[in-house]
Amino acid sequence: MFNPVEVQKQFPIFTHYPDLVYLDNAATTQKPYIVLALEQEYYERHNANVHRGIYRLAAESTALYEGSRERCGRFLNAPNARQIIFTSGTTDGINLVAQCFAMPRLEAGDQLLISGMEHHSNLIPWQQACLAKKAELKVIPFHENGELDVQQIKEMLNPKVKLLAITHISNTLGTINPIAEIIALAHAAGIPVLVDAAQSAASHKLDVQALDVDFLVFSGHKVFGPTGTGVLYGKEKWLNEMPPYRFGGEMIRDVTFEKTIFAPIPQKFEAGTPNIAGVATLSSALDFVEELGQDNIAAHLQILLAQGEKRLANIPGIQFYGQAAHKSGIISFTLAGVHPHDLATILGQKDICIRAGHHCTQPIMDFYEIPGTARASFSVYNTVEDVIKLELGLKEVLTVLGN
Ligand SMILES: Cc1ncc(COP(=O)(O)O)c(C=O)c1O
Repeated sequence: MFNPVEVQKQFPIFTHYPDLVYLDNAATTQKPYIVLALEQEYYERHNANVHRGIYRLAAESTALYEGSRERCGRFLNAPNARQIIFTSGTTDGINLVAQCFAMPRLEAGDQLLISGMEHHSNLIPWQQACLAKKAELKVIPFHENGELDVQQIKEMLNPKVKLLAITHISNTLGTINPIAEIIALAHAAGIPVLVDAAQSAASHKLDVQALDVDFLVFSGHKVFGPTGTGVLYGKEKWLNEMPPYRFGGEMIRDVTFEKTIFAPIPQKFEAGTPNIAGVATLSSALDFVEELGQDNIAAHLQILLAQGEKRLANIPGIQFYGQAAHKSGIISFTLAGVHPHDLATILGQKDICIRAGHHCTQPIMDFYEIPGTARASFSVYNTVEDVIKLELGLKEVLTVLGN
C-alpha cells in the first residue's frame, strides 16, 4: 500500500519544516536521505577525478560514475549503457541533439516538428536551429481541453520533416501525450522522434526499446536526484553519426596540433570533468523511484489530481487549464480577479508552495490569452491533507483580497 506519510519520512526537508506543503514538484522535487547520503559518502570516501587516475580512489570514483550509467541504462531499458549520455539536465540534452543531430541535417526549406505545449527548452533550441538553417518550425496544435490534436500530426508528417520533438507530459497542462502512437506515426513516415520525459520519468516506466524512440531526455532533479544532472538516451546509429559540439578533455582518443580523433560514445559528448558526485548520486534517486514503483507513483498522483480538481472546483471564480482525459498530477488554474503571483505570494506566506507565471510555456498562455496561471504539482510525499490545505489557503486568499 502506497503511504505518502511514510514516504515523507524519507525526506529530511519535512523534518525541518513539518508544516511545509510543497506543491511545486513540476519545477523540482525534494531529495530523500538515500540521495543525500550517497552524495556525502562520495565526497567523504571516493572523491577523485574519473577515467584518468590509476589509484584506488580514482578507480572507485570511475566505478560509481560508470555504474550510474549502467543504472540509467537499466532505468530506460537501453540496449547498451554507452547510449546514455550524461548532461546537466533536459535542456542540455535537447540542445545537444539540436546542435549535433538537427543542425548538420537541416537544409533550407526543411522542417522540424514540435507541439504547441512544449516547455521553452523543447522549443527554443529547435527554433534557433531552424533560424540558422532557414528551415521551418512547425507546431502541432492542441485542443481547448489541453489534448494534443493527434489527427493533425498525420497531416503534418512529410519528407521535409527531419525530427519530431514532443513532451511526454506537459508541465503546464498535465496532459499525458500518447507518445507510443506518435512515435509509430512518425516512424511510418521515416521521421525520428525525441521525447522530453522531464515530467514523466518519475511516474512512468520508460522503455526506450519498446517505444523505439530515437532520443529521450530527462532531468535528475525532477526524479529526486541532484540538480545539474540529466540523461540523454539516443539510438546508437544516431549517436555514432553525430559530431560532438563541446570540445576539451575526456572526449578524445588522440590529439595533435593538426587534428583530434574523438573518443567513441558516450565520452565523445562528455567533454571536461563531469558532475561526478551528481551522476553517482543519480543512481540512488532511480533506485528510490523504482522501489516505490512508477505505477504506484502514477496511481498516487491520480488520487491527488482527482481530489484537487474536486475540491478546487468549489472555489468561486476558479478556471482550470488542461482537462485532458489522460492527465498527470498537475493542476493549472486562475482565480477571477486575482493575479496568479498575488495568489502564490499569499499561499507562500503559509508555507504552501505553488508556482505562478507562464511556467516556461508562453505559447500556452498566448493560446488561452492569459498572462499566467497558478500551478499546483504533486509528488510522492503529498497527501490529501496537502490538497485540503491548498483549498483552504485559496479560500483565505479570496477573503484577504476581499473577493
Ligand atoms: C516538460 C519539461 N521540459 C523541459 C524542462 C527543462 O528541464 P531542466 O530545467 O531541468 O533542463 C522542464 C522543466 O520544468 C519541463 O517541465
